[in-house]
Amino acid sequence: MTNIPVFKPLIEEEELLAVRESLEVGWLGMGKSVGEFEEAISALLGLQDRYVAAVSTGHAALHLAILVAGLEEGSEIITPAFNNVADFQAITAAGCKPVFCDILEDTLCIDPKSVENLIGPNTKAIITMDYFCCLADHEAIAEIADRYGLRVIHDAAHSFGSTYKGKMIGTFSDLCMFSFDPVKTITCIDGGVLLVRSEEELSQVRKMRLIGMNQSATKMYENQRAWNFDVDGLGYRYHLSNPHAAMGLAQLAKMPLITKTRQLSCRLYNNLLRNIPEVTVPASDFVDVTPFLYYIRVPAKYRDKFRAHLTANGIDTGVHWQPGHHFSLFANVRSSSLKVTDKISKEIVSLPLHSNMSEETVELIASAVNGFFSAAS
Ligand SMILES: Cc1ncc(COP(=O)(O)O)c(C=O)c1O
Repeated sequence: MTNIPVFKPLIEEEELLAVRESLEVGWLGMGKSVGEFEEAISALLGLQDRYVAAVSTGHAALHLAILVAGLEEGSEIITPAFNNVADFQAITAAGCKPVFCDILEDTLCIDPKSVENLIGPNTKAIITMDYFCCLADHEAIAEIADRYGLRVIHDAAHSFGSTYKGKMIGTFSDLCMFSFDPVKTITCIDGGVLLVRSEEELSQVRKMRLIGMNQSATKMYENQRAWNFDVDGLGYRYHLSNPHAAMGLAQLAKMPLITKTRQLSCRLYNNLLRNIPEVTVPASDFVDVTPFLYYIRVPAKYRDKFRAHLTANGIDTGVHWQPGHHFSLFANVRSSSLKVTDKISKEIVSLPLHSNMSEETVELIASAVNGFFSAAS
């Protein structure tokens, strides 16, 4: 029997049918479904003053976000060391330098004070990120950015569908991106979206995602292409393709179910685990979020044995993440004190969280967690 995986996409008849129909249409590149996917995202988020560009991955969205922000080569971008490698690599690929700040212990998201202490003459942007089921202090980051004239890129790879102080994620940030990779709450198998604030930025992104070709998106969204076009700048092969968008559309239709069932599982986890003295559960009531993953913190001395215990009991776990300064490529980047990052990165454990996960599965996992700590204490 295979273990309960950390991630499991919700793939049902609707997704199979959508991809099959898309393949049968035969226009496999960027086309009609991509336009429809962008419109569906815009409608779901209720976007008024933001433009949506679908791309091939979340990493591509981050890379294009940094490029469209118009930062000079060598500019510094402050981001938590406790973030995904994709962010560090996107900064580097755009010719900028990552600078690592610390996180807050209650949310595991960016620490605004740590950001402010790092701001120097070359600082041009901040990448803030929502972690798992926790949202960053976006107001504090926007206030700092305003004061110092910085761009803000909001990595919302984990918070699609969530609400921050009554506003849907995606509706208020300077630049915002989502990931729809294989493990996210909704998946396009691989895919991403970048939200920008002006038609000019949108047109830049549209060119850059199509290796610099200024093909009319409207024409492509009719499953057609132009044979005459100009190339006036650098570009990448970062567009989203129709079958991926068709899959995304089928998933978007399930957002209410995805949100509700993930919230219920997280609440049940919190209720079953919060009284174990060695375990720290997320400080969330899971009301306004569509949780991406569920994490707990355990004392560092137990973590390896604890994870081995769960594996032996048929339960996979994950560690998200190794912090940036532990990678050789980023070991020497400028940083603030990373005290919280260093502490919590030895303690975090991701437990399985799937859409539509049964109560019994959550109970079984919680009882294995309990079993370990009853024996350990
Ligand atoms: C916070 C964060 N940002 C960006 C990415 C990159 O997204 P993608 O895998 O779609 O390239 C991920 C992927 O896991 C992520 O967790």
